[in-house]
Amino acid sequence: MSKALDGVRILDFTHVQSGPTCTQLLAWFGADVIKVERAGAGDITREQLRDIPDVDSLYFTMLNHNKRSVTIDTKNPEGKQVLEALIQKCDVLVENFAPGALDRMGFTWERIQELNPRMIVASVKGFGPGPYEDCKVYENVAQCAGGAASTTGFDDGPPVVTGAQIGDSGTGLHLALGIVTALFQRTQTGRGQRVLAAMQDGVLNLCRVKLRDQQRLERNGTMKEYPQYPNGTFGEAVPRAGNASGGGQPGWILKCKGWETDPNAYIYFITQAPVWAKICNVIGKEEWATHPDYATPAARLPHLKDIFAEIERWTMTKNKFEAMQILNKYDIPCGPILSMKEIAEEPSLRKTGTIVEVDHPTRGKYLTVGNPIKLSDSPTEVKRSPLLGEHTDEVMAELGYSPEQISALRTAGAI
Ligand code: COA
Repeated sequence: MSKALDGVRILDFTHVQSGPTCTQLLAWFGADVIKVERAGAGDITREQLRDIPDVDSLYFTMLNHNKRSVTIDTKNPEGKQVLEALIQKCDVLVENFAPGALDRMGFTWERIQELNPRMIVASVKGFGPGPYEDCKVYENVAQCAGGAASTTGFDDGPPVVTGAQIGDSGTGLHLALGIVTALFQRTQTGRGQRVLAAMQDGVLNLCRVKLRDQQRLERNGTMKEYPQYPNGTFGEAVPRAGNASGGGQPGWILKCKGWETDPNAYIYFITQAPVWAKICNVIGKEEWATHPDYATPAARLPHLKDIFAEIERWTMTKNKFEAMQILNKYDIPCGPILSMKEIAEEPSLRKTGTIVEVDHPTRGKYLTVGNPIKLSDSPTEVKRSPLLGEHTDEVMAELGYSPEQISALRTAGAI
């Protein structure tokens, strides 16, 4: 069966997490992704957080499926020539080096355009143009600079970063959308273009509702669905809202049976307005359905703490799956707090290809997250990540180099 991005060739100059997540998605959609790595060393994540000595780490293998690996020393003059040949042959160059690194290598936008005017050059950087544009950035820096950390955590504690890699993987996702959009525009214009996804911007895009709340706070001095209301105080900026819902339907995380020993025996419970009467029935507080202090969403806002305490008295009598089953019968929105162990063992996620077992020649079998985006006409087949330089000869041959030339370039340290 054909794939959505069949025929698209990507020069993948990415490393660590943000860039590789982007090119992995493109590879899953069928693009031929040629990962260029530094000869002898490769992507630094190959050796980071290793669980097996001398074997590519899970960090690397889980971010680089379905790619080919070539090693080129792009600071070596002959290595540069090989890179030029690749630029001429590819549709997209994706990179997430520190600001200026590609220019210092000699591959400015102007030079790339000379070599291939149809090429799309896509970059992840920490920041867009401005005071921080030259800074190197990792995940948590972006979470802090993009507004996530100041709005995550509890009011009486410090800012908190989230486990979801919204700075790295989130920005990789934004970049992938920019790339396919630019590829689509190229079908009309015939020209390449530059695509920039700054990690601060990507995080802020995902924190959009918090900028909404900043403006609500400035206008009204309070936000009634926040846990600070009605007894706490609001400052000038959006406060940390604990586990309150970011939307118009109040929610909170509540203990379930077993919480004393199981750190994940909790459920997220949403007091959605249309099912309020059903919630009252389930928790045995039928009188709240008509009581003037509880009957309407507005009346409930000052009492949310008490309401959730009462609901928790009920959830603590059930384990999180029992609670989920009962609540879903009544269309009450809720979600069990699933541990990574539970997710890894969940059969339905295996069935859909969201969790996949992959075999690797030096590591053996491991679990990975497959393609979360399902296309009905372009199925994803998750293939193992490449060994360092595994495809150098193959790709060099495709570029037209003879075995003798390849051997000479290897001796010269260019590949
Ligand atoms: N051959 C020769 N040299 C190579 C090479 C190759 N195949 N591939 C990379 N290099 C060189 C680069 O040219 C650069 O050299 P220079 O500093 O002399 O110009 C050097 O390797 C290091 O690249 P750099 O990106 O600076 O790596 P770093 O490890 O110092 O920094 C980051 C890592 C992630 C902080 C930085 O790349 C960055 O800020 N990237 C943008 C934001 C980002 O994506 N962050 C998220 C990471 S998950």
